Amino acid sequence: MPLPKAELHLHIEGTLEPELAFRLAARNGVELPYADTDALRKAYQFEDLQSFLNLYYELMAVLRTEQDFADLANAYLARAAAQGVRHAEIFFDPQAHLARGVAMVTIVEGLWRALGRSEENHGVSTRLIMCFLRDLSAESALRTLEMAEPHLDRITGVGLDSAEVGHPPAKFREVYEAAAALGLRRVAHAGEEGPPEYIAEALDVLGVERVDHGLRCVEDPALVERLVRERIPLTLCPLSNVRLRTVDTLADHPLPAMLDAGLLCTVNSDDPAYFGGYAGDNFAAVRQTLGLSEDRLRELARNSFLASFLEDDEERRARYLAEVDAYEFGDAVS
Ligand code: ADE
Ligand code: ZN
Repeated sequence: MPLPKAELHLHIEGTLEPELAFRLAARNGVELPYADTDALRKAYQFEDLQSFLNLYYELMAVLRTEQDFADLANAYLARAAAQGVRHAEIFFDPQAHLARGVAMVTIVEGLWRALGRSEENHGVSTRLIMCFLRDLSAESALRTLEMAEPHLDRITGVGLDSAEVGHPPAKFREVYEAAAALGLRRVAHAGEEGPPEYIAEALDVLGVERVDHGLRCVEDPALVERLVRERIPLTLCPLSNVRLRTVDTLADHPLPAMLDAGLLCTVNSDDPAYFGGYAGDNFAAVRQTLGLSEDRLRELARNSFLASFLEDDEERRARYLAEVDAYEFGDAVS
């Protein structure tokens, strides 16, 4: 039995496995510039974030109907459940779909077909977080938030993703203020490829409650101290960091030092179809390569539930935490 955990950093479009991509392409009459799934998998060699994003946006062309988004989310939820994920807070990138003529209602209601029945079908509770693409304009983000307003019963929070360097958090001050006024929770990617200053800016200017990645905080001891003091959760993605060359190898990942420093770290998969593993695979990899103790793995699992947006269901959070506390480790834990 895998360790119970919450996944807090997961782009639903990044769960598009080659087999499903080809199935949806055939269903929608979309031509993919790859001969087959093997040829597509061979393209999964990335130099940096941008080289990944190019493929990530290209493959989204196969997502056209509500059913496509439902199939995508159901496939993720089934895989996540099998790896011990009990709660998933799922990012989606509406601007990448709106730009291709897919309506907001198609995206949100499609995802909801899967998320709305996830507890009964997969035993996974969920939340939905709408991300703004930071390499598009602040006006575009504001328009996207307006388009999402009729669907806010489905959406818990907003996030910020895509190409980080050159697009500091402050560019999105206005849309985050508007999101806060609408009662939405706030997170943002910061310190993945961007400098530690972006992490502080996401906290100070955007008012984020969690930082996605936040890896580069380790370059600034005063910032680490602040993140520890304020108990700001970081949603780390170790296998993603290796594939996007944010760290040289997994053995070089600063996760153990970050835990030793008292940071509230969580382990997540980011874009599992592209980076070689789902949440449990990331746990297994850090256990094996970084030699994390059972106490540390349990701490990571506890942190994932403590950092979840479960304030509207504290009973559930307590239940999940009790499951983590009662968990007995075996050799094959993930
Ligand atoms: N969009 C999907 N995955 C991402 C990542 N790791 N960083 C920024 N934007 C993303
Ligand atoms: Zn991400």
